[in-house]
Amino acid sequence: MKNHVFRPLFVVIGLVVIVLIIRVFYVPKDFGVHERGYMYGWYREGNIEEWKTQVKVKYQGKEYCSGCHADKVQAIDKTPHAIIQCENCHGPANDAIADHPSEQRPKLIIDKTRAHCLRCHAKLHYPSSGRAQIRGIDPDKHNPDIECVMCHNPHKPSLEGLK
Ligand code: HEC
Ligand code: HEC
Ligand code: HEC
Ligand code: HEC
Repeated sequence: MKNHVFRPLFVVIGLVVIVLIIRVFYVPKDFGVHERGYMYGWYREGNIEEWKTQVKVKYQGKEYCSGCHADKVQAIDKTPHAIIQCENCHGPANDAIADHPSEQRPKLIIDKTRAHCLRCHAKLHYPSSGRAQIRGIDPDKHNPDIECVMCHNPHKPSLEGLK
């Protein structure tokens, strides 16, 4: 081959080698493919811990509630609402609340409006990502104007639990 082909080729090879050498020093040790594969797992592992110090966790999960409301968690776990989190209805118990000393801890919300239940239970007449499978009612026909919790116990939503 001619020189005019080799020269640029050497330049390209040289550049690739330089990039590979810089990479060795520059890319952090924990950068790479983690549990969730190339699509979601391509990141620097230490970044997770760094973000935890930057932003507060919003939701705590039922494990946290069961520390003080074990009876409620156990009771709901036997009902169709077992698959939703307490905080789905009572709002996030973010660290701001969790970190408070008990006397001053702000209370979580109790929402007794129909709108709150209809978020999940207004019947959908079109397919959706699973939301349409939740048992639904027609809000205009199903005991309109009466709060759902007057008849249904949100902690015991099975129909045997009707008040
Ligand atoms: C550290 C103990 C503790 C944890 C953890 C805790 N709670 Fe409570 N919670 C209490 C106490 C004590 C009361 C009663 C406060 C009162 O009546 O003044 C209460 C009251 C409530 C109330 C009633 C508020 C009201 O206005 O009467 C709700 C709802 C509630 N908790 C939900 C939750 C949920 C959901 C979680 C989990 C995300 C949770 N709690 C975690 C101690 C706790
Ligand atoms: C489907 C929504 C929903 C879920 C899920 C739910 N709650 Fe409630 N909760 C309510 C509503 C609505 C009330 C008020 C009921 C009423 O006064 O008739 C309430 C009342 C409460 C109260 C205060 C009254 C009482 O019964 O002592 C506490 C404490 C509470 N919930 C804790 C929890 C905990 C802990 C969980 C999770 C294990 C949970 N809730 C899950 C909707 C929910
Ligand atoms: C006056 C009492 C009353 C009120 C208020 C009420 N319900 Fe009901 N609900 C019932 C009774 C009784 C049944 C069982 C018979 C039936 O399906 O109508 C029922 C059934 C249901 C079912 C099961 C439907 C099925 O196909 O299995 C859901 C879900 C439901 N209600 C949600 C709600 C929601 C959400 C609200 C508030 C927007 C609400 N209900 C208000 C009495 C009530
Ligand atoms: C975050 C979504 C969500 C919210 C909010 C919610 N539910 Fe449910 N509910 C569910 C799921 C999921 C089920 C179980 C699947 C099913 O029965 O279709 C269920 C089941 C029920 C059932 C049927 C139980 C049975 O055995 O047939 C009733 C009644 C019910 N919920 C009432 C309520 C009431 C009243 C509220 C408001 C206080 C409420 N739900 C709020 C998700 C929700």
